[in-house]
Amino acid sequence: MAVLAIQKYPDPVLKAKAQPVTEITPEIQCLIDNMADTMYQAPGIGLAANQVGALHRVIVFDITPKEEGRNLNVIINPEIVASSGELVQQEACLSVVDYSCDVRRKACVTVTGLDREGKPVCIEAKDLLAVVLQHEIDHLDGILFIDRISRLKRSLYKRQLQKSLKK
Ligand code: NI
Repeated sequence: MAVLAIQKYPDPVLKAKAQPVTEITPEIQCLIDNMADTMYQAPGIGLAANQVGALHRVIVFDITPKEEGRNLNVIINPEIVASSGELVQQEACLSVVDYSCDVRRKACVTVTGLDREGKPVCIEAKDLLAVVLQHEIDHLDGILFIDRISRLKRSLYKRQLQKSLKK
């Protein structure tokens, strides 16, 4: 297993759409292991394959509080099949350096997909888990949380980023 480099905005791979996994090969299993390592090392609570430069529809996440140990979750080809309500929560992203912002999302989502053995899974999520799932599935479609905030806030972030890159 290995910790992979996390691609940072504005890397174009973050804007690309990831492709469905048609077969769970050893390469996909290895990608999952490496994504988990990368997420825990960061540390983060979710990671999508685009963020490590792999355009496969794979997400990993773990929202377990640190003191309760680890509970890794993997979904291959995740899809939101139902959603309801709304919430606003502050989000950040391992691919968007030094920035966090309130984002409006669905409060409850039902997500289907496959686990790492290829068995169908269905997760009903609310609150933080619902946010994480929507954030990570967005990544697979080339969407970042800064694409879901106002144009003004986004341009302020871009200016801040340019300034920090010049330093
Ligand atoms: Ni993210």
